[in-house]
Amino acid sequence: MAATAVIGLQWGDEAKGKIVDLLTDQHDIVVRYQGGNNAGHTVVCNGQTYKLSLLPVGLLRPGIVSVIATGVVINPQALLGEIEQLRSRNITVGENLLISDRAHVIFPYHIAEEAALEDSRGENAIGTTRRGIGTCYRDKAGRSHAIRVGDLYHVDSFKTRLREIVTQKNTLLHALSPSSGTNGFAPLDAAKIESEYLGYARALKPHVTDTTSFLHKALAAGKRLLFEGAQGSLLDLDHGTFPFVTSSSSSGCGIHSGSGVPERNISRMIGVVKAYTTRVGGGPFPTELNNDIGQHIRDVGREYGTVTGRPRRCGWFDAVASGYGARISGVDCISLMLLDVLSQLDPINVCTAYEIDGEQTTDFPSHVEDLARAKPVYRSLPGWKSDISNVRQMADFPKQARAYLDTLSELMGKPVEIVSVGPDREQTIFCHGS
Ligand code: GDP
Ligand code: IMO
Ligand code: MG
Repeated sequence: MAATAVIGLQWGDEAKGKIVDLLTDQHDIVVRYQGGNNAGHTVVCNGQTYKLSLLPVGLLRPGIVSVIATGVVINPQALLGEIEQLRSRNITVGENLLISDRAHVIFPYHIAEEAALEDSRGENAIGTTRRGIGTCYRDKAGRSHAIRVGDLYHVDSFKTRLREIVTQKNTLLHALSPSSGTNGFAPLDAAKIESEYLGYARALKPHVTDTTSFLHKALAAGKRLLFEGAQGSLLDLDHGTFPFVTSSSSSGCGIHSGSGVPERNISRMIGVVKAYTTRVGGGPFPTELNNDIGQHIRDVGREYGTVTGRPRRCGWFDAVASGYGARISGVDCISLMLLDVLSQLDPINVCTAYEIDGEQTTDFPSHVEDLARAKPVYRSLPGWKSDISNVRQMADFPKQARAYLDTLSELMGKPVEIVSVGPDREQTIFCHGS
């Protein structure tokens, strides 16, 4: 068995893209299995920065097959735009990209409906990326309004269904529109969407296939698979901070359903965490720092959203939250990222427990209102106050940085096997030669 999975253990943006890129040369196939163009994975290599959203990071290396599997929701316009962008930078996107015919398609009504719903929540908005991710997954679960990639090639039935769906969506959008009853609502034009999407379908056709069958044949032929998680375990629809989550299984739980590859085929699950915590969008965040330290982390870590450019909320490392993420995702080891960002801070706090209504707990609350009342219990550790971005082996870290790593490892109950001290490929330390 030679499949590996890379899973975020926090609220996304843990630098999964960098780790997937690094591990790609030990694998043959990279698989994205959930999420959509809400993800933004950054890879810095050969002096170039690439930001991938729907496309798997594997495309950046020649000879790797990249798969967008069944559980992903696809905005075909965004996907084609991303393919074009890579091609304009001389990256090959041809037979090396496969797209599942079972994946669900995002339509303009998904985006319009999400905007209306988010606007209607006011201060309680989820703070989504407004890419139509949640509304597309909802239609997938509801079935009646769902269209899959494969449906785009059954043209007659696609046309009929699209027209029915658009008619119903226009009624719904009109009702949701704040200017309902006035001239403010512009109905969506089914004929226009139909011709646009049939055009996208033609352009994507060479890549579309039954990826589940492909992956099973690849496994049987001894190919090595690398699963590229998107978002993070705390944004998981079932296990995250509901409703401030994404609408897919973004923990390790989603690999099987999203790819069709059973978890027993995976020999290594790597959990990725930042050396601190960030979050974009709404929802409780116990260790958030709304002060100079939070701003310092944001500035040094360049913590602005890859997809939306929103400033990320920043705070101390939360071992209760990340430990919970590690447990539900079932990871074997930790890849600890952006350690360099903490270099000027002294002391550095780590949240070891929560105090909720006077009681201490290391359990992660299941209800956001309880999480919102959680006061972090901190352990203060000495900082190292020196630049570690050139460190390349464990022995060269200041002893305070090593103590910090040991503490996080102890609190999460998992070995730290990879440490990252900068965005470049070479700014990475493999602790046990992995
Ligand atoms: P992803 O969504 O999990 O792939 O993460 P993002 O790409 O959204 O955000 C991670 C950011 O951190 C990117 O800008 C990376 O280039 C950057 N990065 C990755 N590793 C390190 C590191 O060790 N140190 C620093 N300073 N930046 C890093
Ligand atoms: P990567 O793969 C960080 C967040 C949004 C919002 C919530 C729901 O780069 O780690 P959605 O548009 O998915 O319905 O938004 O989830 N979110 C992410 N936060 N990294 C991501 O992806 C995210 N994808 C979605 O900010 O709070
Ligand atoms: Mg990201």
